[in-house]
Amino acid sequence: MIAQLMKFHELFFPVWQSLLFASVRHKRENNFEYSSVRDTIKGTDSEHSRSRASTLKHPTRRAIMKFEEFKRQTVFITGAASGIGYAQATLFLENGANVALFDQQELGLKKLKELFPSQVVYTVGSVKNQRDVQLAVEKTQTEFKRIDILCNTAGVLDGFKTTLETDEVLWDHIFDTNVKGTYFVTKAVLPSMVEKQQGIIINMASIAGLISGGGGVAYTASKHAIVGFTKQLSYDYIKQGIRVNAIAPGAIQTPMNAADFKGDGEMAKWVAKETPAGRWADPKEVAQLTLFIASATASYMHGNIIQLDGGWMNKG
Ligand SMILES: NC(=O)c1ccc[n+]([C@@H]2O[C@H](COP(=O)([O-])OP(=O)(O)OC[C@H]3O[C@@H](n4cnc5c(N)ncnc54)[C@H](O)[C@@H]3O)[C@@H](O)[C@H]2O)c1
Repeated sequence: MIAQLMKFHELFFPVWQSLLFASVRHKRENNFEYSSVRDTIKGTDSEHSRSRASTLKHPTRRAIMKFEEFKRQTVFITGAASGIGYAQATLFLENGANVALFDQQELGLKKLKELFPSQVVYTVGSVKNQRDVQLAVEKTQTEFKRIDILCNTAGVLDGFKTTLETDEVLWDHIFDTNVKGTYFVTKAVLPSMVEKQQGIIINMASIAGLISGGGGVAYTASKHAIVGFTKQLSYDYIKQGIRVNAIAPGAIQTPMNAADFKGDGEMAKWVAKETPAGRWADPKEVAQLTLFIASATASYMHGNIIQLDGGWMNKG
């Protein structure tokens, strides 16, 4: 009888084993998924977080990226107090990088400084102001002695205004922030990268930088300008060891889009329905792409505009 039981056990051992491992793996993935979304939620304001929790039907299931190489590097991120910039900063910090945060709002910057005190310096200022930018870059050089990676993430939306609805003040605000701001920050960081013959720059474009309908006229024109800026910057400095790319996100659930989630959230639901993936993305998903592009794994990527849009551009 015992011999028969042993034989049965031996025969089915591989099956028990794979079932056991599958169950452990499933549990781990689900735990990760829960904590991943909850952690991201902690980083944003509570009203926005509630709408995020209820609309992310397919939260990120991927494992968090781990890169040893960032432990020795310094990243400068604009727009780091909120949304995508906050997520990028958090993921670089979790991977051991020193991060210089720049934004016109202090709250999110302060929070990251409290969470990662020895890895963070921050400056409150505007990318529209060349002096603010220069001071922030100097502060970073003094504190961390280097800037290896620049993420030009700060940006503003234009309320989806058409040409006749757009006045000069709005036009200048959008272009001064999205385009001139990116140029100011790049110009301040680039000399030290050129001196070292090494550096990574990741600009924040948008699907609005490739097609119409993702913003109003000023936003769409400004993001098309970021696409052009990225390509020319890459072309001009590729021989000097600088690797430049841009990310073109689709619908990412951040405070920038809070209006879409107001009330019954009809607009947010429509956007999710129109997106082939059927959902908005979490800013953490943009952060994961950012780390990949910034890593040596992406060493042959130059002057690319990388879409992260749940299939939006693929619809035709
Ligand atoms: N959320 C999306 O769906 C989406 C899609 C495509 C592209 N983008 C782009 O991603 C970037 C980040 O957007 P987000 O969704 O995280 O928005 P967000 O509003 O959550 O964050 C933008 C951050 O930029 C900062 N900022 C704005 N003007 C600034 C200035 N003059 N100086 C310094 N900081 C300034 C804001 O204070 C804020 O912290 C933007 O460039 C945006 O155009 C967003």
